[in-house]
Formats: sequence, structure tokens, C-alpha cells
Amino acid sequence: MNKFEIQGGKKLKGEVEISGFKNAAVAILPASILAEEKTVIENLPNISDTRTLLTILETMNATVTQLDSNSVSIEPGKMRECKAEEDTARGLRASYYFLGAGLGRFHKAKVAYPGGCHIGSRPIDQHIKGFEALGAKVKIEQGMISVQARELIGATIYLDVVSVGATINIMLAAVKAKGQTVIENAAKEPHIVDVANFLNCLGAKIKGAGTDTIKIEGVKKLGGCEHAIIPDQIEAGTYMIAAAATRGDVLIKNVIPKHLESITAKLKEMDVAIEENGDEIRVKAPKRTKSVDIKTLVYPGFPTDLQQPMSSLLAISEGTGSITENIFEGRFKHINELKRMGAVIRVEGKVAIIDGVKKLSPATVTASDLRAGAALIIAALSTKGKTEIHEVEHILRGYDRIEEKLQNLGAKIELVQAKKTDK
Ligand code: UD1
Repeated sequence: MNKFEIQGGKKLKGEVEISGFKNAAVAILPASILAEEKTVIENLPNISDTRTLLTILETMNATVTQLDSNSVSIEPGKMRECKAEEDTARGLRASYYFLGAGLGRFHKAKVAYPGGCHIGSRPIDQHIKGFEALGAKVKIEQGMISVQARELIGATIYLDVVSVGATINIMLAAVKAKGQTVIENAAKEPHIVDVANFLNCLGAKIKGAGTDTIKIEGVKKLGGCEHAIIPDQIEAGTYMIAAAATRGDVLIKNVIPKHLESITAKLKEMDVAIEENGDEIRVKAPKRTKSVDIKTLVYPGFPTDLQQPMSSLLAISEGTGSITENIFEGRFKHINELKRMGAVIRVEGKVAIIDGVKKLSPATVTASDLRAGAALIIAALSTKGKTEIHEVEHILRGYDRIEEKLQNLGAKIELVQAKKTDK
């Protein structure tokens, strides 16, 4: 496994350009198989999750052409089936979007049970409930999920929990179903809107994405289109928190400030100066931040994906703060690693209580998942001395050119490749 070596203690200063949203990209790539013509996807983040999905598309016989480092064209015309095997599909959660997209395109699909970050039990019962309501039969055998329908017929589906994945998967399965589908208690995250915009650009008829009721009129055919993915709110939030944790001054470019409101509000409460200007946000943190209490919620609440990075900032803020994690039950694995660096944190059920210390100390730590890795990078950047972060593959799944972007902001961070003989 590769590692990051970080010589921390330097204020981040300068400009950083935010890439396309990972969570939108990993849904739009599978969604592209619904098209009957070529689609061009721009502002695609160059991360290992999108590379894995492109490999899966090629394995399924779609023609993938890399146009430049951040855009691809996909022609799914030669595909005859939608099947994603364990070796690729288990590497990430979003492989399950091939179930909805495959149902829509071929009325059947077979995908290895999805992997992704280990942050809780992550059931997929709401996806299955949606597929079944549309007329599909779902089987789970030998680690593979199979979905099959003679005909897909629109239905009204009330989600028992607000799920991003289930909302998107049901939209994918329903766009070509007969009649109207209504998703009630739908998730409202910005990438739900981006996926709906992509599908509408192909010719789908989706209304209400971004609200808790989404209505889909099934259409017979979907054509091609060109679509640019929205900026990554979680990547932007990560750089905002990193700027605050290093008491830096960073201009974050190519963002949609509206998507960042919950983060901006919290950082302001912590005494961080934030200026918004069009699609740019400047974050200045001249002094030590104040602790706050954070509760993760579905959009537009504070995103669970940023509670881990935020816990690193709270660890060095003045006073006692807390994080209540309401979405995933197992999302505190990074806390033990932060404690290795001297953080004073105790976890009681779904609440982490964080007593801020003046400074952390460098250590050798391990990233247990994607955002845990981001949290450790922020902790390391704020800490004088050399921190080593192991298992960075988790981080590279979701952050486009992270070491290059941080180096441009003045950070000393190197990706050290494991020697071939290393295990
Ligand atoms: C997506 C994001 C992830 C983010 C999360 C919450 C992608 C690729 N990943 O994950 O970064 O942290 O949203 O914003 O977009 N649940 C069920 N049954 C289901 C589905 C979900 O009980 O069938 C529960 C989950 O266990 C969790 C909650 O619903 O407690 C929300 O999960 P969900 O919104 O589905 O998250 P993901 O789509 O997996």
C-alpha cells in the first residue's frame, strides 16, 4: 500500500480549483448506458472510482474514449448485457447503479454486492423495494445481485429512509418504465439534481429532483448528450476545512456556494472569515478557531462526508465541541488515529466529544476509509513535523490530484509508492 508523507505546520495559501463531484460522476457513468447514442461527460474527476467504472463499462463492451484528462465519450451501442463482476464492482459502492441502469436498458442486470467505505452496515433494502415496486424480481446469490423484469411499470415508492443511492437507482430504473413513477421522501442532495439533469438531457422526463417528491414519466428512447458534472461540494468543503486548520488563506475556485451553506455557516461560527464571490469562496483563518457542535443530516444539513475532516479541525479548536453522526453508525474509525496524534476525543454512541488541544503531534496513522483519510491529511497539515498516512488508496478513490493541489497551496506532501516487495 502507498503512503503520504506530510511535513505539516505550514499555512495553506493560494488558489485551488475544485474538480467534478465524485458522487455525481459515479452515478452518471453507469447512467450513460441508458443512452442509445454517444454521451460526452465533461468535468469528470480523475479519481480511481471513476477509472474503475470506466473499466467496468469497457468490460461490458461500451466504447469509452478518453477525450482529455477530465472528459470522456461513452458509446454503449455495442453492449448486450449489464454484468459487473466481483473483482471490479466490489471496489466501490456506486457499482450498484448498474442495477438500476441495467434494468432500464436491458430489463436485467447482475452486479457483485457493492463495496465502498466501511462506515456502517449500509443496507440496500430501499433500492430493492424500489426495483420490486417497478416490477423487477431481485435475487442475491453467491455475492451477486440479479435484477430482472419482463416489463417495468411506473409506481409510487415511499422511501422509508432518505437514501441518496436508492433515489438515484430508482430514477435510473424508472426513466424508461411504462407510465409515471413517483419517489416520495426522496433525497435532495445536489448530485440527485445533476443526475436528473443528465437523464433529462438524454430525453428523460424527470421533475422535482432536489425536492422530496420526484416524478418520472417513462419514455421509450433516450438519445445522447454532452454534460458537465457539477463541482464537488465535499472536495470544496475539505479544502475549506484544511485552510481553517492551517490558519491559512485560500481561494477556492469553481464551487457552487449554495451547496456549501451548511459548511460555510459552521466555519463562520468557528470564527473563520469567509467571502463568497460568484463561483469562488475565500477562506481566511487568522486565529485559532472556536469549537462548535455539529450534527450530520441529509442535505441541506451538514454532510456526513465532512464530519470526519471537521473532527480534525475541532481537535485543535478552542474549547469543547461535538459531532453527532446521524447517518452512518460506523463513521468514527478515524478518531483512534487522531488520538494517536494527541487529540482528546471520546465517543459515546453516535456522539464524539472533542476537547480541543493547542496542537497535535505527528505520528504514523492509517486511513480506514476515504473521508477518514481526508481528516488525517488535515490533521497532519496542521501539525509541525512528519506524519505518515498509510492506506492512501482510500483517499485516491475520491480526491482528484490531491497532493498536487495541496503542494500548489504550499503544503509539503509526497505520495510514496510502496516497493514491489512490500505487502
Ligand atoms: C451516498 C454518498 C456518500 C454519503 C451518503 C450520505 C455516493 C456514491 N455516496 O452514499 O458519500 O456519505 O450518500 O450522504 O453518492 N440506507 C438504508 N437502506 C437503503 C439505503 C440506505 O437503510 O437501501 C441507510 C444507510 O444505511 C444510511 C442512510 O440510509 O444510514 C443514508 O444512506 P444513503 O443516502 O443511501 O448513502 P449512499 O447512497 O450509500
